[in-house]
Amino acid sequence: MSKSLALTHWHPASWHDQPVTQQPKYADPVALERAVASLSRLPPLVVSWEVEALRERLAKAQRGEQFLLQGGDCAESFADCESDSIARRLKILLQMSLVLLQGLKKPVIRVGRFAGQYAKPRSADTETKDGVTLPCYRGDNVNRPGFTALEREPDPELLLRGYERAALTLNFVRSLIDGGFADLHHPEYWDLSFLRHAPLRDAYQKIVDSIGESLDFFESMSGQQVHAVTRGDFYTSHEGLHLLSEQAQTRYIGRQKKWYNLSTHMPWIGMRTANIDGAHIEYFRGIANPIGVKVGAAMSAEWLQELVHVLNPQNQPGRLTFIHRFGIKDIEQRLPAMIEAVRGTGSQVLWVCDPMHGNTETTAAGIKTRRFNNILGEVEAAFRIHEECGSMLGGVHIELTGDDVTECIGGARGLAEADLVRAYRSQVDPRLNAEQALELAMLIARRAGANRRTTKAFR
Ligand code: PEP
Ligand code: CO
Repeated sequence: MSKSLALTHWHPASWHDQPVTQQPKYADPVALERAVASLSRLPPLVVSWEVEALRERLAKAQRGEQFLLQGGDCAESFADCESDSIARRLKILLQMSLVLLQGLKKPVIRVGRFAGQYAKPRSADTETKDGVTLPCYRGDNVNRPGFTALEREPDPELLLRGYERAALTLNFVRSLIDGGFADLHHPEYWDLSFLRHAPLRDAYQKIVDSIGESLDFFESMSGQQVHAVTRGDFYTSHEGLHLLSEQAQTRYIGRQKKWYNLSTHMPWIGMRTANIDGAHIEYFRGIANPIGVKVGAAMSAEWLQELVHVLNPQNQPGRLTFIHRFGIKDIEQRLPAMIEAVRGTGSQVLWVCDPMHGNTETTAAGIKTRRFNNILGEVEAAFRIHEECGSMLGGVHIELTGDDVTECIGGARGLAEADLVRAYRSQVDPRLNAEQALELAMLIARRAGANRRTTKAFR
């Protein structure tokens, strides 16, 4: 029987009755229970009206009026919960959003993959090195990356450390934004010392200058400061993987008469846990947040349709975002059928392209990487295919960092395979560095501008 016909009463713990995957195995159930109980008593990190505000903006993106930029680390690390690193991440996302705003001519919804992106799904439960087999690293909320039995032992206390770091990160992000970090009148926040590639720097400077002029015009006309109008305009997201901790941060809001996951604005379901009869789908169907689902090449049209029915039975605008991640090799073949499948349900989703996870490869030296050209190629294909199918790409989902790492190959400065060893810091997937991320945003924006001019010329 299909899942949608078999739905029973939902409550935050109803997922326990379904098969669950990708959860750590804790040795001490009493310590786990204690940590989860503490977590369930702590105050929420976000509030329901912010969550509702984001859902309304995502509904606008569904209608083509706004565009979603979702980005951040593959796996956030506790060690990177420090001021410079957080500020650099925020800065690159703001810079990208500015470039996209200018190119796409629509407001950009900024959603960080941060303040809680601490639990990772893995392809295997264990890892073997030099004949020693240990549990895999599953993110800082679960265990530690070092290859010793002690570090790899899942530790329930880390759930509390993760909650605290998410709160610290979010507190700093909120203060920076409220203090005017996103204000274009502070050129020091927009400086591009990291952009060593001169043509990119010049092109970016032109964008900043032209937006600066429009802002001055807006402010003199409206008598309002632009940053006062756009403040608070920053949201968080993470993969809702570790169900005990997600459940503990799920609260009933009497005023709304709904359950919300208040650990983040927009949790998403990873590709490995999107089984229609699985525990993750059961948990997610009952929370009121806008939610994402990763859509990979292994998903069938029927699967996707069931997801729509179970996760958004009322066809509520902004509720469901499908983040497709086929890779450059499969997108042409797979995406049109997926668009058709969703159309067949009569329900709306927001379509977003994650050009990272289908383009991961391993070099001859055994290093996990991604090629800039494949990433850009997949985003361009996504824009084109949606348009050809009478649909619309409403956002991008990118793994990036504000730091000058060398994890992905290519980009304007032509990072080569040999450069990867120089500054490879990711514990899980390779991220675009700040320069590559900004370049990607500029190429997307430039392409959109060129398309607009061509379309106008044909009118
Ligand atoms: C991720 O976003 O880091 C991830 C694991 O993605 P996916 O579920 O699409 O593989
Ligand atoms: Co990843």
